[in-house]
This record gives sequence, C-alpha cells and structure tokens, in this order.
Amino acid sequence: MSSVISFEGVTKAFPGPKRAPELVAVDDVSLAVQAGSIVGVIGYSGAGKSTLVRLINGLEKPSSGSVNVLGVDVGTASPSALRALRGRIGMIFQQFNLFNARTVRGNVGYPLKVAGWKRADIDRRVDELLDFVGIGDKASQHPRRLSGGQKQRVGIARAIATEPEILLADEATSALDPQTTAEVLALLRRINRQLGVTIVAITHQISIVHELCDQVIVMDGGRVVDSGETYRVFAHPEAALTERFVAAVTQGLPEGETLRHRSPEAGCC
Ligand SMILES: Nc1ncnc2c1ncn2[C@@H]1O[C@H](COP(=O)(O)OP(=O)(O)OP(=O)(O)O)[C@@H](O)[C@H]1O
Ligand SMILES: [Mg+2]
Repeated sequence: MSSVISFEGVTKAFPGPKRAPELVAVDDVSLAVQAGSIVGVIGYSGAGKSTLVRLINGLEKPSSGSVNVLGVDVGTASPSALRALRGRIGMIFQQFNLFNARTVRGNVGYPLKVAGWKRADIDRRVDELLDFVGIGDKASQHPRRLSGGQKQRVGIARAIATEPEILLADEATSALDPQTTAEVLALLRRINRQLGVTIVAITHQISIVHELCDQVIVMDGGRVVDSGETYRVFAHPEAALTERFVAAVTQGLPEGETLRHRSPEAGCC
C-alpha cells in the first residue's frame, strides 16, 4: 500500500508573543498514512492536532522537515498547487461551518459551483449526496432548522461532493450526543469502505478511535508518543498517556474522568 500522507521530521513553530520564546506546536513528527485507511489522531487540548491537520491541507507550512500529501510537497508547493491539493481533500468540523443563509442544497452544491459545474449536474449530484448521507428529504431546509447530527451530515455531504481522496475530520463528533455520534461514525466508515476515501480523524475521545480507526497516532506536547494499529496500541500501549486513554475504554471510565486525572489546567473541550 502507498502512503497518501507522509511527514518526515516535521516541526511547526509559531512566534511567541513579544519576546517570549517561539511556540513549538508540532515537534519533530514523522508519520505515514496509507491509502484507504482510517487514522485517529488523539491528544489533549494543545497537543498540536489541529496544527497537524493544517499542515496536511497546506494551510500551514512546516518550519522544518517535509510534508508530502498526495505526491505534493506542501513546504515548497506554489499557491496554485496548494489550491489544487485542497480540492482533493475534504474537511469537516466540530461546529459544522455551514452557510446559514443557504439551504442544505446550496451548502452541499457550493464546492461544485466553485468548481464550475453546470446547474443541472449540481442538482443531480446534490440529490445523490443527500441520499448517501441519509437526509434526502432536507434539501430545501435551512441549516438552523436541523439537528446537530443532520447538520454534520450536510457538512459531510459537502466535504465529499468533489470526490476527495482524503477526508480530514477535526473533532467532527465532539458537539454530538452518543447516539448521533455512533450514526456519524457509521457514515464515516461507509465513506471509507464504499468510496475508498482515506480518513484522518482528530479527537480527544479514545472511544472514537476504538470504534472508528484502523490506526492511531497519540500526540502529547507536539510530539507523537505512540502510534500503530489500533488493536496493538490498545493491547500494548507504549506511552503512559496512551495507557490513560486506553483505561477509559477498557475500565469503562468516563472519558472526562481520565481528562481530569491528567491535568486540571488542560481545559480540554
Ligand atoms: N497560529 C498560531 N499562532 C500561535 N500559536 C498557535 C497557532 N496555532 C496553534 N498554536 C499553538 O500551538 C499549540 C497546539 O495547538 P493546536 O490547535 O494544534 O492544538 P489541538 O491539539 O488541536 O488542541 P484542541 O484539542 O484544543 O483543539 C497550542 O499551544 C496553540 O496555542
Ligand atoms: Mg484542535
């Protein structure tokens, strides 16, 4: 299998305020994501997960090291090459990021309109997408009239509209209740299995990794402290942080408990 995402010795540092030292958000990270897999990136608040995602879609460039995504070297790519790369990557968010002034049809059709599709083709594709995500009856509604789970289905339909090869999900189920979370995870699995889309799911909940991911990357303070096949990482955690996460699933601890055990100031969402 070939890698669709590879990081080699990647560091991303941001300038600190005034004369404070720079802030290293991602620290010497190397990783490879195989085509067709579902990879979970787990860590507490501030671990560098979202920065990692922004390096994958080229919204940030590495301070050092190399990021290669779908054959594009993100650090040296031109702005137009990065735009083309972003067209091959879908993205979903915790807060859905829908256009409230547009209908569901308008939201899902938006990337197709931007890509220059004809109206009739957009309508046909949007119908197909809404059926796929299970909200075929909501096309003419506005997002404010939908439940959280329905909104995320709109976000997912929009993200896969242009048939991306990679889907990045940054805390995509964190605003949803457990039942709705399970439904959205089932939809993500179907997108992976039926459409062959590689998925990178960012989360602070180990149960999401347990239910969804083939592989897991554990981040702490910008570094990867553990990684591998999910079953291996669960069976033989290599880092103390992984052990704490895994205990939440194997001992049935509420995940909030494990979060509090670690650090009262972590302030995780
Ligand atoms: N543009 C930026 N400028 C300065 N510092 C930043 C910037 N983006 C992120 N950081 C810092 O980098 C660190 C990692 O942030 P990041 O958002 O990647 O963490 P995260 O793991 O996604 O956290 P959360 O779970 O809270 O979303 C944090 O200390 C954050 O303040
Ligand atoms: Mg984040």
